[in-house]
Amino acid sequence: MRVIKDEFWTSKQRQEFPLHYIVSYRAAFKAELPDFFIRRFSKQGDVVLDPFGGRGTTALQANLRRRVAFHNDINPISEKIARAKTRPVPLAAIERRLQKFDLSRPVCLDEHSELLAFYHPDTLKELLNLKREIQRDCDDVNRFIELVAVSRLHGHSDGFFSVYSFPQIAVLPEAQRKINEKRKQTPPYREVKSRILRKAKLSLQGAERFQERFPESLNNQIRTGDSRQMRWIEDETIDLVVTSPPFLDKVDYLKDNWLKAWFYGIEEKTFEENLVQTRSLEEWKVFMRETLRELYRVVKPKGVVVIEVGEVRYKGELVNLDEIVATLGEEVGFSLGAILVNEQRFTKLANCFGVSNNEKGTNTNRCVVLAKGIIERLEFPRHQKTLSLFENI
Ligand SMILES: C[S@@+](CC[C@H](N)C(=O)[O-])C[C@H]1O[C@@H](n2cnc3c(N)ncnc32)[C@H](O)[C@@H]1O
Repeated sequence: MRVIKDEFWTSKQRQEFPLHYIVSYRAAFKAELPDFFIRRFSKQGDVVLDPFGGRGTTALQANLRRRVAFHNDINPISEKIARAKTRPVPLAAIERRLQKFDLSRPVCLDEHSELLAFYHPDTLKELLNLKREIQRDCDDVNRFIELVAVSRLHGHSDGFFSVYSFPQIAVLPEAQRKINEKRKQTPPYREVKSRILRKAKLSLQGAERFQERFPESLNNQIRTGDSRQMRWIEDETIDLVVTSPPFLDKVDYLKDNWLKAWFYGIEEKTFEENLVQTRSLEEWKVFMRETLRELYRVVKPKGVVVIEVGEVRYKGELVNLDEIVATLGEEVGFSLGAILVNEQRFTKLANCFGVSNNEKGTNTNRCVVLAKGIIERLEFPRHQKTLSLFENI
């Protein structure tokens, strides 16, 4: 197996288009990762698929590079995030819409009492009214407002609707009550509209006239479904896949996202069954083999599939999932190009904030590069310049 190690993309945080960072999501990868492969293995107008799309990083980056994005994830939250992110609207439209919303109508909070661990009653009233107003019309403006609202549900600064809580994961009400006791805090009133506007303004920097500048985004396909059966994609129509599957049971996508699901009005029961977060390596291998077989069906001849995985500790041993994916990929017919290991050297500052490093002081993304057909020897230039807000795209 050809393993190439280098620092292919920057370890600096938040260097990309601000819209990428609008909402947190568990186990998301940096936009630099899909960008690196999109530039290397596709051209303008090509179709780039992410079958485990998460918060839509591949989809947005594909559009920014003038590719069509196909996005799939079993979690309906992912579809909502990715759709709104790839259809940003002007700030003025958000402002006008918010002005029309009446968030002060009286609401009975009895059946939402658990949420009072997070929100002041008046904030909760505004949120419930906001949900109702958004549901009245599902146009792009409301969808974008909904996305911004979802990004403000829990966190530790005044910009969030909640009292001090964790930004990355939504803790359960019981745990939040404990946090409140420990910190001797009660939820303060946090006005909703001004916080949405402030966050929207930040996130929309550089996103003006999005559809005009990135017209490929009009052909995006954003779906909810199982990676093992993406019937909505025709055979041999995808140029490039860039993705990161769930790593065994590393992350609980249901529990960690329950507040987002509440705001979106999504019943977790509807997709729980097919969400893969297994403890068993054998089950994970079967799942990945089936997904790879489906990817082989949808990818064009000479198309490329990049799968980012990590090392996991399994039954006391360190298992390199990249090696397993490489073998499974070959079993279903792909040829293995290389395993690319991006070594990121963290800055001192990142260490202070407790970013987890391995013993060598580096952290890695391990990307398996597979191709449908014979692949020529791959060269990977380091540090391809990434899009920045200030770059004229
Ligand atoms: C590692 S995350 C992907 C994160 C993404 N790369 C990002 O940057 O946001 C894995 C994703 O797989 C999804 N997932 C789990 N089981 C799935 C299945 N059977 N089919 C499709 N998606 C699934 C989860 O909902 C989760 O969003």
